[in-house]
Amino acid sequence: AIDLTGRHFLKELDFTPEEFRRLVELAAELKAARRAGTEEQRLRGRSIALIFEKTSTRTRCAFEVAAAQQGAHTTYLDPSGSQIGHKESVKDTARVLGRMYDAIEYRGSGQEVVEELAAHAGVPVYNGLTDRWHPTQMLADVLTMTEHCARPLAETAYAYLGDARNNMGNSYLVTGALLGMDVRVAAPRSLWPEEDVVAEARSLAERTGARVTLTEKVEEGVAGADFVATDVWVSMGEPEEVWEERIELLRPYAVTMDVLRATGNPDVRFLHCLPAFHDLGTALGRRIHQRYGLRSLEVTDEVFESEHSVVFDEAENRMHTIKAVMVATLAGA
Ligand code: CP
Ligand code: NVA
Repeated sequence: AIDLTGRHFLKELDFTPEEFRRLVELAAELKAARRAGTEEQRLRGRSIALIFEKTSTRTRCAFEVAAAQQGAHTTYLDPSGSQIGHKESVKDTARVLGRMYDAIEYRGSGQEVVEELAAHAGVPVYNGLTDRWHPTQMLADVLTMTEHCARPLAETAYAYLGDARNNMGNSYLVTGALLGMDVRVAAPRSLWPEEDVVAEARSLAERTGARVTLTEKVEEGVAGADFVATDVWVSMGEPEEVWEERIELLRPYAVTMDVLRATGNPDVRFLHCLPAFHDLGTALGRRIHQRYGLRSLEVTDEVFESEHSVVFDEAENRMHTIKAVMVATLAGA
């Protein structure tokens, strides 16, 4: 039997395919119990610290709501509301919070920060996104894929288009490799994941039977895909100046209706971790629209609002999967 009690959740590569699949399955069980009104509270009396050095809507809310539904308490620490990194080292912070909390979530830039917390906290530490990986997002995406594709994961193909040299590009590549899937990345070569991440994915694929494809050609990337995914072209922490170069490089990789048609699959589904730049209705979006004259960026409004889009199922699934991580590591899978 799989027991994840006491484990950290720092990156996909720390898990066996069986363990990762068990977390997704547990999330599906918790989701079904929630729907049926039969959820059991397995985290009563527990406390979880949520450290956010970057902003969040989904991840923060998912942790808070999932904890509340399971009977646990959370404390939200934003960068200005804590001493972490400014007045107190990560190591000391880990040892202090570890004395009070049963688990700690961390979102920020450095993967080394979340690893350092894990090394010293003495309680499970969860990665809520770093510049390198977004592993809780991958659980939600895989749950969403299992809900929208009847075939086993090993017979499912997905293509990720756009900025692949970021947390989502890295995470998609290794997750597909881990689960024996057919995973494609279509992006300009300069925005492919770093060489070491590609090497990890390829060596995993040899063991799991996954197919790993990196290409600059959109048609090759999406042909026959069950899912087409993308992410913002400029990530949190990157300077606004990067937009110009990214738009230049990534315009051909925008997810349009033509791209969905190029899959040849009428049932193709669209995934996006969100937040998305599809209607440019935000303040930053309006600045980009004025400056570059574009009507959308990584995905068109047409695709985003179409019947192919499952982005809000995906967003909801953040809550069920994050709940599964907390339940599995604090109360057993
Ligand atoms: N997808 C995701 O992590 O969203 P937030 O940045 O809103 O948490
Ligand atoms: N790549 C994005 C993901 C947001 C959930 C970022 O890091 O900003």
